[in-house]
Amino acid sequence: MRGARLTMLSAMGLAYASLSIAAGDPGRGAMVFNGTCIACHGSDGFGSLPGVPDLTGRTGLLSQDDAVLLKRMTEGFQSPGSPMAMPPRGGDPALTDADLKAVLRYMRKEFKNAP
Ligand code: HEC
Repeated sequence: MRGARLTMLSAMGLAYASLSIAAGDPGRGAMVFNGTCIACHGSDGFGSLPGVPDLTGRTGLLSQDDAVLLKRMTEGFQSPGSPMAMPPRGGDPALTDADLKAVLRYMRKEFKNAP
């Protein structure tokens, strides 16, 4: 009896987890950011290495269209004269398109004065 109840509870937990990933939830975005992007962009988005741009500010880079940002995050990006490139999917090919959408939402929510 007890075992059956536990099995049911963990099945519900799994269903909940996959639902929230499909919706691109902020928890997923935080995990992706803190696992991959933070190395170069820093926890607050100001950039922690030379050549990494400041992603904060209402009229800053994150105010560009989702389509532009998601393309650059997916394919990688280097602006003219920039000493360093943004690697495709932040250098982690395992990140899905949904992960990148979730992390974009996370950055807009967390960074100072973000759009
Ligand atoms: C190895 C360092 C590095 C990692 C890891 C990294 N980035 Fe970047 N990112 C950069 C650099 C450098 C640029 C600026 C490229 C340029 O302008 O030439 C950049 C630019 C950006 C931009 C601005 C694009 C634009 O339009 O100017 C966004 C958004 C971004 N990164 C998001 C992310 C996300 C999300 C992750 C994690 C999935 C991530 N980055 C991981 C180095 C990194």
